[in-house]
Parts: sequence; structure tokens; C-alpha cells
Amino acid sequence: MPTTVLVTGGAGFIGSHTCVELLENDYEVVVVDDHSNSSPEALERVAKIAGRPVAAVHRADMRDRRALDAVFDSHPIDAVIHFAAKKAVGESVEIPIAYYDINVGGTTALLSAMHAHGVHRLVFSSSCSIYGDATKVPLAEGDPAAPTNPYASTKWLCEQVLADTCRRLPELSVLALRYFNPVGAHPSGLLGEDPRGVPNNIMPYLAQVAVGRRERLSVFGDDYPTPDGTGIRDYIHVMDVAEGHRRALEHLGDENGMRVFNLGTGVGSSVLDLVAAFERASGRPIPYEVTGRRPGDVTELVADPTAVAEAWNWAATRDLAAMCRDAWRFQELNPAGYAG
Ligand code: NAD
Ligand code: WQD
Repeated sequence: MPTTVLVTGGAGFIGSHTCVELLENDYEVVVVDDHSNSSPEALERVAKIAGRPVAAVHRADMRDRRALDAVFDSHPIDAVIHFAAKKAVGESVEIPIAYYDINVGGTTALLSAMHAHGVHRLVFSSSCSIYGDATKVPLAEGDPAAPTNPYASTKWLCEQVLADTCRRLPELSVLALRYFNPVGAHPSGLLGEDPRGVPNNIMPYLAQVAVGRRERLSVFGDDYPTPDGTGIRDYIHVMDVAEGHRRALEHLGDENGMRVFNLGTGVGSSVLDLVAAFERASGRPIPYEVTGRRPGDVTELVADPTAVAEAWNWAATRDLAAMCRDAWRFQELNPAGYAG
């Protein structure tokens, strides 16, 4: 019997790439997604790439316990990967209640449904944003959490909910993965990041400038204490993030309880490094202008990836050139995103 994995938020950016990775490795995949930030088309593309579709797609809100019960009743779920959440930092400052409700409430509803249905294995999407304005790089899992916005607080709260639940239910095995900056796309160009409206994040914004959908990139500050003055991040290819989830599933059985790992490369790139890499990948100039710092931005966030390397003998392998090349291929083939 193949292992059946429930992927919440499976039509989203990271979820859809993870569905491909799982289908290509003989898992059965069941998706729950309300499509509040994704298109059903993404899962059609997943089927095209993997050569077979996910077993089922349930359009439901994570907070809907009855809908979750119906999902667990309909499929022999062995493990859950919980991506479904809202993720825009700026929006979380505007509508914090919705963020706590969806991100934390969605997680508690899922946990109680898992408990009711005897499912004990969970991989949870956490975020480097929980480290806040870090005073050191690289960041290791034991470094203090200091969220600086409601979105990051929801992720930190969820980690605590999961840790408390694991203490109470010793049969549970939970892996919380703190992703740094996932970017890029599937190398086929069929699957990628398709944000609604004006992109908040730099990679889809750059891609839309390169394809002519936006005039120029605003570089948010060149007066940071970094070599070129722009912010430094640890960009990680979404295919590495997807692969990391498959590896996490394989390691859920190692031990029970809650474990936390960074998913990053350990390599920091500045905004101007990224612009130069994208120009090389696309062969197009990227016009930009330096504007003021974006409120809430931090100078530098880079992962210490050694814990996951030691635990799973695994590391991200794709470099910045591959991230830009694949993001560009998706943008060029889908200039208007999935809607086009
Ligand atoms: P995404 O918005 O592309 O995907 C999230 C998916 O969840 C979407 O398909 C959306 O429709 C769905 N969803 C949202 N709320 C839901 C709800 N209440 N019920 C059911 N489905 C719902 O985001 P992503 O970039 O793929 O991120 C996936 C996860 O990874 C999120 O939990 C996010 O917080 C976390 N994360 C993302 C990043 C990043 O930079 N992309 C970094 C760190 C952590
Ligand atoms: C990257 C760099 C900007 C846009 C966010 C979330 C974080 C996590 C990852 C979910 C920064 C600069 C950006 C632009 C720019 N997500 N920039 N012009 O802010 O590091 O992290 O995604 O968990 O929680 O906060 O990512 O892509 O927005 O910014 O100059 O138009 O690019 O200042 O230095 P960020 P980002």
C-alpha cells in the first residue's frame, strides 16, 4: 500500500511543487485547499508533470472541522504536510485577527482532526521570519525567536501549540521546517509562483519586470550594513524545499515528539546579487531604482543548515543561477501566470 499524504495548501506555490515531488516518488496525495491564494490550474499542471493526478482535491477551509473530518473519513491518511496559511507580512499588520484565526485556528483544527482520526505524523510550514531582526548570522534552530509582525507571531505560536501537543500526546511525530526564502519554479516551466496582484516578494517582482509587466524594481534601501548596502537573504530553490518535505516524511518515523529544522542553503545573497543573477538568467536588463527601506525589513537572514544535514544527510543543492533560470522560464512561458 502506498503512503497517503494529506497536503493542505497543496495548490499553492510550495505545496504544488511538493505534490509533484511526492507523486514522482509513489506517494498518494490528497489535497485540501480553499484556493484563497491559488488556482486549481496549478494541480492540473502537477498532474501533467508527474504523469498522474493527486488522488483527490477537497476545496475547504482549514478551520472547517466537519470538512476536515470528511477528508480523514474518505482517505487512509498516513501523514499530513500543513502548508495552508496566509503569508503576507504587510497584510498581517493590517488584518492581524484574520492571520491568527486562519494560521493558528487552521492548525488547531487540523491537530484535533488528526487526533480524532488516529493520524500522528505531521510536517509543518514554519518560517525564518520567527527569528525577527537577528543579531547574528547564520541562524541556528536554537537561536531565540523574536517575531516582529503578526504573520511571524502566528508561525511561532503554531510551533508552541505543536510542542505542547507533542508533550501531551507521545504518539505524535512533528517536524517543523523553518524555510528561509523559497524562490524559483519547476524546471519544466509549467509550475511556479503566481502571486495575486502586485508581488510582495522580490523574485516574482523581478520576473514581472523582466517580462515587461512592471516598469522597474524598487530596491528597498542601499544603506544597510552589508557589502553593497542592500539586504541579504538565504534564497532556496522551491524544488529543494519540495525535496526537503519528502525527506521529512521519510524521517517522521525516526522518533516521536517535536523537532525543528531550518531549510536554507547557508548562502546569503544581496538584492543586487539577485538582480545581477536574474539579468544573466533572462538575458534582459532589469531597470531598478533605490527607494527607502521597507518598514519591518531586516538586514540579513541566513540559515545555518547543518542540523538538517546531520539528521538526514541532506542539503539543498540548487544555486542562485538555477533559481533565477527556473523562475524566468516560468515567467516567460506564463507571462500572465496561470490565468493566462
Ligand atoms: P501560498 O499562498 O502559495 O500557498 C498557501 C496555500 O494555502 C494556497 O493554495 C491557499 O489557497 C491555501 N490556503 C490559505 N488559507 C487557507 C485556508 N484557510 N484553508 C485552506 N487553504 C488555505 O504560499 P506558499 O508560499 O506556498 O507557502 C506555503 C506555506 O509555507 C505557508 O504556510 C507559508 O506561511 C509558509 N512559508 C512560506 C514562505 C515563502 O516565502 N513562500 C517562507 C516561509 C514559510
Ligand atoms: C527579500 C529582499 C527586501 C521586494 C518574506 C517574509 C518571510 C518569508 C520569506 C514567509 C529584502 C528586498 C523585496 C522588492 C526589494 N515568508 N526587496 N524590492 O521580506 O525576506 O521575507 O518572505 O514566511 O516571512 O517576510 O522576502 O522577497 O519580500 O524580500 O528590494 O520589491 O528583497 O527588502 O531585502 P523577505 P522578500
